[in-house]
Amino acid sequence: MSQPIGVFDSGVGGLTVLKALRRKLPNHDFIYFSDTARVPYGRKPKAMVREFAYEIAGFLQQLDVCGIVIACNTASASALPQLADDLDVPVWGVIDPGVEAARRVTRSGHVAVIGTKGTIASGVYQSKLKALGLKVWAQACPMFVHLVEEGLADSEDAEVLARHYLAKLPDVDTLILGCTHYPVLAPVIQRVCGSAVALVSSAEVTADAVAAALGGNGAKGSGRVTHYVTGGVPAYLHTAEVIGGVEGQVIPLDVTRLSDAGRSVRSSVSSRL
Ligand code: DGL
Repeated sequence: MSQPIGVFDSGVGGLTVLKALRRKLPNHDFIYFSDTARVPYGRKPKAMVREFAYEIAGFLQQLDVCGIVIACNTASASALPQLADDLDVPVWGVIDPGVEAARRVTRSGHVAVIGTKGTIASGVYQSKLKALGLKVWAQACPMFVHLVEEGLADSEDAEVLARHYLAKLPDVDTLILGCTHYPVLAPVIQRVCGSAVALVSSAEVTADAVAAALGGNGAKGSGRVTHYVTGGVPAYLHTAEVIGGVEGQVIPLDVTRLSDAGRSVRSSVSSRL
């Protein structure tokens, strides 16, 4: 039996990253944690989202994962790099891969990033992109996650909101989808910003980084995915349809059980000090 890779997000968005991971690592097993009882993370205070990330990471560690992918930009912006330092297994976020994807694609050096309020307010994308000498325009799109979670990615409302959020988009050649829910909205975003703008997301580059670190370790899994969901299972299955549906067992989890898992990470850190 090989150890699974843990992947988490506030909702179904991280399934876009899981898809890329499964393509690159077909022999690995995965545990996907979807915190739908507490979605969206994007409007919540940073300290609260950091605590959620500690709880979920602690829970995944208890399930003996070999590494954890934070398939959520908001949680990556809130909890990294501290969470990676505090865990006993490797942790990957999605912001560095998103920055790397943009660096590879841009020719003009002028890029845009859209994300949740939390991600954009953290300034993490902006500072990492500027450190590469790129010019950055950033915009929070708080309603986008709701559209995806409600299965409205294809709706007229999605187009109206995309036009609203991107009304002041300057002359960029690359737009980073800085939220793992947003690839679901890619067709509407592309329509609004025009074909001259390349949309990039972190899924593929994240999967490359994880595969480079773990791929060669002779995984003997069977490509199985087990889903843990803190909200309603039928709603999760329904929403996940837009990302190709859910394969594997889906296990409902009482969110109140998570606080002990968060505490276990912190107490193991303090006992190491
Ligand atoms: N998919 C997440 C992200 O990448 C979280 C969105 C939310 O819960 O607000 O930021």
